[in-house]
Amino acid sequence: MPQTAPFGQYNAVFASIGALVTFYYTVRLLRSVIRGLKTFVLAKPLGLSTDVKRYGDWAVVTGATDGIGKAYAQELAQKGLNIVLISRTPEKLGNVAAEIETQYKVQTKTVPVDFTGGADIYNAIARELEGLKIGVLVNNVGMSYSFPQYFLEVENIEKLIPNMINCNCLAVTMMTYLVLPGMIERKKGIIINVSSASGMNPSPLLTVYSSTKAYMDFFSRGLEIEYGSKGIIFQSVLPFFVSTKLSKIRRASLTVPTPSSYVSSALGALGSETRTNGCLMHSIQGWVADAAPEWLVNAVQVHMHKDLRRRNLKKLEQKKAK
Ligand SMILES: NC(=O)c1ccc[n+]([C@@H]2O[C@H](COP(=O)([O-])OP(=O)(O)OC[C@H]3O[C@@H](n4cnc5c(N)ncnc54)[C@H](OP(=O)(O)O)[C@@H]3O)[C@@H](O)[C@H]2O)c1
Repeated sequence: MPQTAPFGQYNAVFASIGALVTFYYTVRLLRSVIRGLKTFVLAKPLGLSTDVKRYGDWAVVTGATDGIGKAYAQELAQKGLNIVLISRTPEKLGNVAAEIETQYKVQTKTVPVDFTGGADIYNAIARELEGLKIGVLVNNVGMSYSFPQYFLEVENIEKLIPNMINCNCLAVTMMTYLVLPGMIERKKGIIINVSSASGMNPSPLLTVYSSTKAYMDFFSRGLEIEYGSKGIIFQSVLPFFVSTKLSKIRRASLTVPTPSSYVSSALGALGSETRTNGCLMHSIQGWVADAAPEWLVNAVQVHMHKDLRRRNLKKLEQKKAK
């Protein structure tokens, strides 16, 4: 009996579609790999990164006394910029400012502010920033849940929702509103917005956090389209895990960089990437998440977050029982 192909006359059509899809994804992956190598391996040695010092005398960093924000403050000071540090705790601000002044011989200014406060806090910040030629604004401050939870189960949800929206959305919007006009006037400026990889896809059990980070990413990308042609560089930074207090990961590893190595890499991408996962390992994770079907990304996240939730709830119960 002659063998008949399972789809008869349509076999050639299916084979062509398969070849086209494979070709499309291979080209996409190759493009990403080449861009990643250019951005994170070649940009620095070839001097392709943006020279931040050309944009103004001062950098403003929110959430500047720990983790990623502190690393931005140090890295920008090392490049010769004076730094305005903004966070909650005056003592931490004083210590980081002194460290930076001694180590990098630049000026600092500290502004103690709690970004969970509403719109009222920005008049005071505006007064502190008056007269400074701000070349770089790093919108870094952010807060998350203490551990993954279903929306209605989150402890103190009535307080947490406005606090998180104020800290993660209002802060980036208002700080940009305060600083952008001076940059437009001088026809140059850099605004770096530290979003999160959890803003790339919905992050179940961290839904409010993930949604605020998607806001930050959209805000950055929208303004890049509005003002990119007026000399302003916007960069939306979407990290996966970095070893900080917020991530509760103390030890760095291949996929979890220290804040300073992460920031050094993300700054290297400034000028070439307006939206970046910040370092090569995180970009690889980003390409995989982009290429994978949405149901798979959701399933992996739900599994991971449910496990974290279970372990944290167990710890809480054990604490209560003591
Ligand atoms: N670490 C990660 O794995 C990761 C991954 C993706 C995205 N991110 C994003 O990266 C950013 C920085 O995170 P991080 O991990 O570096 O955090 P972190 O180590 O916890 O540092 C947070 C900084 O923000 C300040 N801060 C916190 N709440 C504040 C508030 N309400 N008002 C003013 N300042 C406040 C803290 O100082 P005080 O306590 O003195 O105020 C500290 O300087 C966040 O936007 C986060 O969403 C982090």
